[in-house]
Amino acid sequence: MKDCLFWSLSSVGIIFGHKPPIMPESPSEFLLTDIHRCYPVALGNELFLTGNAMAEIPVLENAWIHIQNGKIVALGKTGEGEPELTDNQLISCKGRLVLPGFVDSHTHLVFPRTREQEYVDRIKGLTYEEIAERGGGILNSARATAHISEEQLLNDTLIRAHEILALGTTTVEIKSGYGLSFESEMKLLRVARQIGERTPLRVRTTFLGAHAIPRAYASDRKAYIKLVTDEMLPAVVAEGLADHIDVFCDKGFFTPEETLEILSAGEKMGLPGKIHANELANSGGIQTGVQAGCWSVDHLEQMGDAEIDALRGSQTVPCVLPTVAFFLGIPYAPARAMINAGLPLALATDYNPGSSPGGSMPFVMSLACNQLRMLPEEALVASTLNAAYALRMSDTVGSLAPGKMADLIVTKPLESLAALPYYYATNLVERVMIGGKWVFGPSNAA
Ligand code: NIG
Ligand code: FE
Repeated sequence: MKDCLFWSLSSVGIIFGHKPPIMPESPSEFLLTDIHRCYPVALGNELFLTGNAMAEIPVLENAWIHIQNGKIVALGKTGEGEPELTDNQLISCKGRLVLPGFVDSHTHLVFPRTREQEYVDRIKGLTYEEIAERGGGILNSARATAHISEEQLLNDTLIRAHEILALGTTTVEIKSGYGLSFESEMKLLRVARQIGERTPLRVRTTFLGAHAIPRAYASDRKAYIKLVTDEMLPAVVAEGLADHIDVFCDKGFFTPEETLEILSAGEKMGLPGKIHANELANSGGIQTGVQAGCWSVDHLEQMGDAEIDALRGSQTVPCVLPTVAFFLGIPYAPARAMINAGLPLALATDYNPGSSPGGSMPFVMSLACNQLRMLPEEALVASTLNAAYALRMSDTVGSLAPGKMADLIVTKPLESLAALPYYYATNLVERVMIGGKWVFGPSNAA
């Protein structure tokens, strides 16, 4: 009953006031006990996992985790080396599973409104490209961004931020790209930064001014690219609004040459690249991303052996977004082949109003298992440690190794990890902790 009251009050707060839910304080040092199974993903200082190591991750049965000042000190099996703490420092996980919080390394969480009409148009037979050519798609969202206030945009985005927190995401990357004008791109990035300040989520932001060519520049692409590189980019950097730069390098959007020009301008101003590549066609985006030293290339629905070869030996993470293939009805990326080739595959939601209106990492894991033929363990690695590497954050988050941040999920009662993708439509996340503090879950969690 107490739990129910807590939930209903906090939900109202989220919708009307956007106050973070009031969570019980945990002491600065405590022990999570009575964990049925803990899936730390990696116990050492691995920055990513590849090949068989993605399937053969450690599992601690009947485990404990010692946490101090927001970080993991140690973890192990019950009766094997746990520290002696006082009773009020013991937090029982009541036989649940514990895993690292999800790292969603590719989202467009800040957007003005939904595009349900385009969804219906696609059901009736139009393709994503046909809708874009008619001025729908990204341009449709950009028109709406110009008219929405920053306050409203922030309120709408806060709701989505709390939604993904409740689904187990603890770190999220957020792109601009639905502005396509100086003012609107800045507005989107300011809201993205606010999400990092107004919620417990760890946020990284990405400047995606080169998401599409606005109609007004259709006959002068160069002028828009100049606006992105010479006006928007310096202002974004001067205000510290972005951690990376992104380009939609694909058929009908930006060419590999244009992409290299934009990425190189970003690199000169200190922004590493993370590009959208090979969603609509095998258009050279992957080779472009590797050539530019991008931290990741994302989408990858259209690729073959030459693209796998290009990624092999590079530092560029292939990031697959299976909800896009699910939602648009396009082919799934060849994730199995990429894992077999030894690439550090990552998964993300791509939460956006056009191609993936959802931010559920557990559902991404379900699609990875069902459609990409990934094992639940591989899907977990790709949603945590490898995803953190795509943001070059895997030295601090993405696994439950000693020294890392205590960002974790306590599930509802489950037997094993496989239950998470198996129950594809049930939220099995019971509690979420970020930096040693409960940020989601029932009020009696401590
Ligand atoms: O990642 N592919 C490019 N951009 C977004 C979606 C764009 C949209 O349709 O709004 C994506 O899928
Ligand atoms: Fe995207």
